[in-house]
Amino acid sequence: MTDPSPSLIDRLQAAASAAREQAHAPYSKFKVGAAVLDEQSRIFAGCNVENAAYPLGTCAEAVALGAMVVSGGKTCSHVLVIGGDGDLSPCGGCRQRIAELCGPDCIVYAVAADGTALKEWKMADLLPNAFSFDR
Ligand code: THU
Repeated sequence: MTDPSPSLIDRLQAAASAAREQAHAPYSKFKVGAAVLDEQSRIFAGCNVENAAYPLGTCAEAVALGAMVVSGGKTCSHVLVIGGDGDLSPCGGCRQRIAELCGPDCIVYAVAADGTALKEWKMADLLPNAFSFDR
């Protein structure tokens, strides 16, 4: 699925935005939400969860992907992240996390916290030649 209806983007954005409201980001103050669509057309959301031991903080994408996996989801086709003022994109670690669990045509969207500035990439362009054991 590479050409979603606008309503799919709207639904992903609504889920990610609601998750972003729950972000635990007392250190960076940078709240992020993420939503993923799995192969059963289910949406799972996550927020960033920071920690006083800074390296232990978790990105929103990791939380959303974990929610998908624990519910039996195998593959995501769309990922949407929301936060910041228009320059957000998944960090390198999350690109690898998404690559592990996404289908070949996965699309990644980024939206500013105010819902504007929609950006879109093919996951393959965000992390070309991703490390893999060829599942
Ligand atoms: N963060 C995410 O959750 N996702 C991203 O795509 C970029 C960054 C979080 C990590 C940290 O809690 C905060 O944003 C600032 O880097």
